[in-house]
Amino acid sequence: MERNEVLISEDVRKITNTTTDALKMRLSKIHPNEKAETDDRQEIKVERLIELLSCLKLDQTRLTLKDLIMVLHKIFENDRVNIEEIHSLMSSYKSNPAEWLKYAKFDRYRYTRNLVDEGNGKFNLMILCWGEGHGSSIHDHANAHCFMKILAGTLCEIRFEWPKDDQKTEGEISPMKEISRKVLHTDEVCYINDSIGLHRVENLSYSNCSVSLHLYCPPFNACKIFDERTGHSSKSKVTFWSIHGERDKNVSISRMITKNKLVCDLN
Ligand SMILES: [Fe+2]
Repeated sequence: MERNEVLISEDVRKITNTTTDALKMRLSKIHPNEKAETDDRQEIKVERLIELLSCLKLDQTRLTLKDLIMVLHKIFENDRVNIEEIHSLMSSYKSNPAEWLKYAKFDRYRYTRNLVDEGNGKFNLMILCWGEGHGSSIHDHANAHCFMKILAGTLCEIRFEWPKDDQKTEGEISPMKEISRKVLHTDEVCYINDSIGLHRVENLSYSNCSVSLHLYCPPFNACKIFDERTGHSSKSKVTFWSIHGERDKNVSISRMITKNKLVCDLN
C-alpha cells in the first residue's frame, strides 16, 4: 500500500481505533479536573483529528514531522485556535530524530531557537536546542499561545505568578512567586499562555542535551523577561539561531558583537 493511500483495511482500522484510544487517553490527561464536563468535547476533538488525518490522506499510525506541519496548516486555515486540538495533535507525533536533526543546532553557551515553519504567518514552529545546564529567563508569551513538546532528553518547566503591580515599579523589590515545577520527558507536551502565568525552562542535566518543539500562535518577535529576585521586567527581542535548517547570518553578526556579554534575551 502506498504511503498516502486512504487506509481502509481491517488491520488498519484496528490500529486506527488503537490510535483513537491513545488519543483519548492523552486528551483525558490535558484537563483531568474538567473531565466530566469535557468528555463530549474531547470526543469531538479526537474525531476531528482522525478526520483531518484521513482527509489529508496521512497515515494515522505514523505521523511524521512533515505530516504534523501539514495538519497544522490545515487547522490554522481556521482563525480560531482550539488548544485541545493542537495539544492532542502535537502529542500524537512521536519524536523521530531523523526527521528533526537538520534543525537541531546547538550552541556551546546558550540554548538556540531554530525556525522550522512560519505557518503562513499564523504560527511559528521551532526547535529549541538545550545544551547541558542551559535555561531560559523567566518570560511571558506576548499574548500568544505556547505549546512545547519534548523531542529528546528532559526539560524542567517552572511556572511563576505575574509580579504584582507594585513590583513593576523600580525600587520595589519582592521575589517572584513560583507556582509549580514539572519535569517533562520525551514526547510530553505542555501548554501555557499569559493568563496561566510566566515560566522558565531549564535543562537540569549536566550530562545530556535536550531538544524541544515549540509552537507559538500568533508569532511574536519580542516578549518580556523578568528578574526572579525583584519581579522587574524588561522587553526582549527574540531571534532565530537558524532558519529552515540554515544558520541565520544576522544572528551570527549579533553574536559577534555580544561575544563577551552573553545576554539571555531568547525564550
Ligand atoms: Fe516559553
